[in-house]
Amino acid sequence: MEHAVYDDIAREYKDSKQLPFRKYIEEYTLFQAAGNIRGYKVLDLACGEGFYTRKLKRARAAEVTGVDISPEMIHLAEASEFEKPLGCRYQVHDVAEMPTLGSFDMVVAMYLLNYARSKEELLAFCRAAYRQLEPGGRFIGFNDNMSNRTFYYETYGKYGFIKQTRPDRQEGDPIHYTFYNQDGAVFRFDNYYLHPETYAEAFAEAGFVDFRWTGIALHPSQKDNPFWNHFMAEPPLMGFSARKI
Ligand SMILES: C[S@@+](CC[C@H](N)C(=O)[O-])C[C@H]1O[C@@H](n2cnc3c(N)ncnc32)[C@H](O)[C@@H]1O
Repeated sequence: MEHAVYDDIAREYKDSKQLPFRKYIEEYTLFQAAGNIRGYKVLDLACGEGFYTRKLKRARAAEVTGVDISPEMIHLAEASEFEKPLGCRYQVHDVAEMPTLGSFDMVVAMYLLNYARSKEELLAFCRAAYRQLEPGGRFIGFNDNMSNRTFYYETYGKYGFIKQTRPDRQEGDPIHYTFYNQDGAVFRFDNYYLHPETYAEAFAEAGFVDFRWTGIALHPSQKDNPFWNHFMAEPPLMGFSARKI
């Protein structure tokens, strides 16, 4: 299971949050999609070491609960909470099998769904998110871009990572990520490929409406910086959103 993977790379993954694309694209896209969350109850699925759990709480959410399958990631999240208490809460669960923790205004999943190796696993993640939401609540997040053409997989090195897979990638195939941190550390993990249409089907079967790939947004301070041209033209990563009625 993935917990073994992230137990081993927890520190390196945390450090990778310093790469510029995290701030200028990943974080900016998330908070553009989230909008005003003041007073919201938010559930952060696959929260890792709590990077976005803390940012969501700082964005004035009333309550933020983070869930991750990796005890080591949750340990780092709790250490940050201990050091600088914000009121974030954390629990260790496999999202596919987690209990209903409450009724949330928003569920966030930053890089959870790309761990599904089959439509059934993806559906289990989507159903878990759906169960936790209030009617009208939104499920938003970030993901491997399942429409990213394999030709481009190894072209993102200057942003701090590359992807690799079989040229004729099939449902469930691993997408190998290699990250190059700014301190020189190199670490690896796998996501899994499922067709974009499989995503649309799983969201609909779970009961969601308005599922869409939202694209990515670049922080306005970077809009004239040609460094981002390739990332924006052929995004390796992608935002999504859906709603419960
Ligand atoms: C790429 S990290 C993202 C962490 C965090 N969301 C962020 O953006 O910094 C992916 C996380 O998903 C977690 N994960 C993978 N499969 C999971 C599952 N079935 N249930 C809960 N967490 C899972 C891993 O342990 C890891 O912490």
